[in-house]
Amino acid sequence: MDINALALELNKTIQTNNQHIYDMLSDFGKKIYFPKGILSQGAEAKQKAKKTNATIGIAVENGEPMHLTSIRNIIDHIPPKDSFNYAPASGKPELRSAWRDKILSDNPSLRDKALSNPVVTNGLTHGLSLTADLFVNPGDAIILPDKMWGNYRLMLSVRYGGQIKTYPFYSNSGGFNIEAFRETVIASASENNKLIILLNFPNNPTGYTLTPDEAKGIASVIKDAAQTDCNIVAISDDAYFGLFYDDETLKESLSGYIAGTHPRILTVKICGATKEEYVWGFRVGFLTYCLNQSKGAEDIFYALERKTMGAIRSSISNCSHISQTLVLRALQSETLGEERKQKAEVMASRAQKVKEVIKNNKYNDAWDVYPFNSGYFMCLKLKSVDAEELRTHLLDKYGIGVIALGGSDLRIAFSCVEVEDIQDLFDTIYKGIKDLSA
Ligand SMILES: Cc1ncc(COP(=O)(O)O)c(C=O)c1O
Repeated sequence: MDINALALELNKTIQTNNQHIYDMLSDFGKKIYFPKGILSQGAEAKQKAKKTNATIGIAVENGEPMHLTSIRNIIDHIPPKDSFNYAPASGKPELRSAWRDKILSDNPSLRDKALSNPVVTNGLTHGLSLTADLFVNPGDAIILPDKMWGNYRLMLSVRYGGQIKTYPFYSNSGGFNIEAFRETVIASASENNKLIILLNFPNNPTGYTLTPDEAKGIASVIKDAAQTDCNIVAISDDAYFGLFYDDETLKESLSGYIAGTHPRILTVKICGATKEEYVWGFRVGFLTYCLNQSKGAEDIFYALERKTMGAIRSSISNCSHISQTLVLRALQSETLGEERKQKAEVMASRAQKVKEVIKNNKYNDAWDVYPFNSGYFMCLKLKSVDAEELRTHLLDKYGIGVIALGGSDLRIAFSCVEVEDIQDLFDTIYKGIKDLSA
């Protein structure tokens, strides 16, 4: 492999402080670096070129980014330097530190762990693909449950060539299937020297979040696997963080339970504003690394951050600046917590209504309900009709859209349905099933 001297330097920093983390890197992860070219010369000039700064690739007029009035008029309360200008490759520094504070405030378990500064990503999908850039080689084993967000397969298998191994998500008693998870992880750890384990709670598509005991169970399985000399990249996709509807569910990111348990484990926390701040189209996510060690952690974080920045620079260059400014301002708003709470209550009332409606025995012959307690979704296991056939029938005859998953599961996004429409939604799905069974 032909490797640039800057990449070699970052690799050495990682190797010196934790050889296992170096071994986890993909070939691309080993080669990537953040160049000291235009961007760092520009950053230096920003500090020192007080007379004329002719370094950066934007246009300047009257001391601020040049802009068109038609666009400025729409966003006239945001200074052009915070909207029209480029943001740094790793994201706006104030936003990164505000989000770090939020992570620590929301997740007591992470407070005593070595946690990097979050890098801003173009939504969570981008955070996941950056993680795959740095850590997934074709053929690497990726552990996922049988019920998963479909994009994981498209990304990790089709795009990155990983070998996905699945385990059944639910146990017979309706909780997370720790036994199956253990079996799959430990068997895979004996066959591979590296595993990528991706976990997502609140879950898409099931709407299930772990209990604290289940979270401890997952963490102990991952630690046991690491103890068999297997390196583990444990990714926690926290897209739906905060939408918890039951007292018994874990209210923290699973990353806090996994991080800090073994030097062979690198925990990657993927979270963001997309769902937490109800800004799906803004594309603001965060990628944060958590380590077992405190000694040398800052050096490893520096090297991983530079590599992540290189992966961003070489693909999308940087993320939307205006979106970052909007999310930062929201985080600085005193009313944000209350606003978020109110919206979470609306979502909780929909989940509650779904639970009430589906309790009715009249549906017993049509479906079983998978346990759910969080997030946007719930799933039905259909007893007598094909999910895809039902989906198209509901669409064509009743104008109702739901998602068919596999042969028998139907995913319903109650996040999109007003409380007063929920009864009718389930009655109509039931009617659709009866039409098809007749
Ligand atoms: C589990 C999960 N992770 C990540 C994402 C992607 O989030 P983003 O829109 O920020 O890329 C989604 C979106 O549907 C999701 O369901």
